Amino acid sequence: MRLLVCGGAGFIGSNFVRVRLADPGDEITVLDKLTYAGRRENLEGLDVRLVVGGIEDPTAVADAIEGADAIVNFAAETHVDRSIAEPDAFVTTHALGTYTLLEAARERDLRYVQVSTDEVYGSIEEGSFTEASPLQPSSPYSATKAGADLLVASYRHTFGLEALICRGSNNYGPYQYPEKLIPLMILNAMHGDPLPVYGDGMQVRNWIYVEDFARGIGTVLERGEPGEVYNVGGPDEAPNLEVVQRIVEYTGADESLIEYVTDRPGHDRRYSLGSEKARALGWEPQVRFADGLERTVAWYRDNRPWWEPIRSGDYRAYYERQYGRALG
Ligand code: NAD
Ligand code: DAU
Repeated sequence: MRLLVCGGAGFIGSNFVRVRLADPGDEITVLDKLTYAGRRENLEGLDVRLVVGGIEDPTAVADAIEGADAIVNFAAETHVDRSIAEPDAFVTTHALGTYTLLEAARERDLRYVQVSTDEVYGSIEEGSFTEASPLQPSSPYSATKAGADLLVASYRHTFGLEALICRGSNNYGPYQYPEKLIPLMILNAMHGDPLPVYGDGMQVRNWIYVEDFARGIGTVLERGEPGEVYNVGGPDEAPNLEVVQRIVEYTGADESLIEYVTDRPGHDRRYSLGSEKARALGWEPQVRFADGLERTVAWYRDNRPWWEPIRSGDYRAYYERQYGRALG
């Protein structure tokens, strides 16, 4: 396929490109604004055309879309804590950006996959969300992602666009920006910095190894039914405290680094995704959490040149604002 991958220089987008190019056949253009989370290094050695620009910019979109058969849209602001501190970019990218891409797809009659999140369903104490669960987003991040999903659905309903939505659970693995729980804890543990657990640490997340999610999106892209939503969740759930304790064990750090800090406002207690519909298309996750987490710790240990410029750059100022203390 000739794919336009928006947000392809980020964590999941770049893993998706790597997974696709492992099998010959695709021609890929990446459109990415290269925000703090988008990095050219993530695409190093991969045969892609990179167009630098925002999905909300019709000129950049028109340039990048040339020759494409399909669009996969990963481009987003993705950190819940940043959406609480500064929601502006979340509204622009998720609302205006998604709209601009949908218009471009409609004009050219392209297949369109929107990469979305389990957070649009809100929090669930027991059981799992299905694709029919109501949307009850809690944060500016998840509310604007839900808005984007609804806009995508409207383009299917109103204009007959060949649009699909793929909702993932919490991803982890190589190339994840260290603001997120797992890489933050790995790098802090490696440096002997405190491990900041929000609230009581008993919030539960449904973890999926990023290559499993990337393959799930590929399955939806190739075999999904237009107009449908597909949940793509991981095989294991774990409370945050257990995740942090495992990281302490795998890095050989001291458990006394764990520090309970003020909880995230409006913090969702538990996410859990039922993925039967995606499984019926022939997809299933292959990596269990314990194995994937060990691999991820090893990747960060072996890829210092990737994270060192991040951890010594703007990330330090973000960390100080968010956690009220400097990184050691
Ligand atoms: P990320 O923050 O690592 O990457 C986002 C990418 O989008 C970056 O390369 C960034 O430069 C780019 N971007 C941001 N705004 C843009 C804009 N206006 N125009 C063009 N590019 C822009 O995020 P990620 O974790 O890789 O998430 C990718 C997608 O998957 C997002 O849509 C997110 O909502 C969704 N998702 C993420 C997870 C997760 O656990 N990380 C789980 C489910 C779904
Ligand atoms: O569920 C899918 C979502 O997963 C994606 O849509 C989001 O883009 C992605 O960021 C992620 O959202 P979370 O808020 O679940 O991920 P985060 O890594 O920020 O936090 C995971 C859990 O860990 C959450 O309960 C908050 C907690 N946490 C996080 C950080 C950064 C801490 O306890 N301490 C921390 O320092």
